[in-house]
Amino acid sequence: MLEFAGKTAVITGGGSGIGRGMAIAFAREGMNVVVADVELDAAEAVAQEVKALDARSLAVQCDVAGLESVRSLAGRATAEFGSVEVLCNNAGVSIGRRGMYATHEDWQWVMGVNLWGVIHGTEAFLPGMLASGNDCHIVNTSSMNGIVPSARSALYSATKYGVLGLSETLANELAGTKVGISILCPAAVTTRIMESERNRPAGLLAPEPPPVPHAVSSTFDLSPALDPVSVGELVLLGIRRNQLHIFTDQKVRALIEARHQRMLSEFDVLAEWEQSRASATN
Ligand SMILES: NC(=O)c1ccc[n+]([C@@H]2O[C@H](COP(=O)([O-])OP(=O)(O)OC[C@H]3O[C@@H](n4cnc5c(N)ncnc54)[C@H](O)[C@@H]3O)[C@@H](O)[C@H]2O)c1
Repeated sequence: MLEFAGKTAVITGGGSGIGRGMAIAFAREGMNVVVADVELDAAEAVAQEVKALDARSLAVQCDVAGLESVRSLAGRATAEFGSVEVLCNNAGVSIGRRGMYATHEDWQWVMGVNLWGVIHGTEAFLPGMLASGNDCHIVNTSSMNGIVPSARSALYSATKYGVLGLSETLANELAGTKVGISILCPAAVTTRIMESERNRPAGLLAPEPPPVPHAVSSTFDLSPALDPVSVGELVLLGIRRNQLHIFTDQKVRALIEARHQRMLSEFDVLAEWEQSRASATN
């Protein structure tokens, strides 16, 4: 996609942080912005910011963990603006419990928002995008922890690796269509992500506190946290260039290299085994 003015973007988790940053960056390009969030007040506040930039906007309450809620979002966005050209499946939560101590409720909550949320967005919007014949683009928010493991949350990385697998494969499936796809892989960004528990549904509260309290990881030496509007600008660039992966921090390059070097080194063990089997049979 090269032209943005007058096109419509739907952003889940648009009421805060990276979603708000995308809303502002898109509004500056003259896009109509549908701000969807489980927190209606937050969505409305961002919609007001978008309108103050002379762009059209609609705030919609939406829980991405529920398919009907996301289908209703698609209906409201289309009724208001006629079509949707950009979908950002961005709503996400982080959890303060290590995977080894996770409760079933923890898994349900984090998988429901971070992975099912992206699946629901795909189900509700992709068929209409394909049928429209318009240039369209989907941006799925994963994380650097969707490529390299998070230091302390297997739950979070399980969902974000899932978003990566879903999106990379969908990119293969969508080749030759007019729908592009990008995976946003942020590192540290100044948002309210560490206050994610504010939106955990009462029915999915953890029945007991974790035996080992969560501590913020110091394993990765990342750059200072980026501001969300800059991330929004990187997303626009990523859509323009049809990037498959959108990164936000140069320091993540070394982490990805190290992960893949380690993986590749495991082939040495396979080669040794193949050699010993060949000598045994000779
Ligand atoms: N901030 C970072 O450093 C960072 C790094 C990597 C990835 N991410 C990812 O970026 C995305 C945005 O997070 P953020 O950092 O801006 O955090 P944030 O908490 O500031 O914003 C997340 C938004 O999602 C909304 N939300 C939560 N549950 C929802 C639900 N069930 N349905 C709809 N909306 C819901 C929240 O109300 C909030 O407005 C997430 O997917 C997160 O995993 C963030």
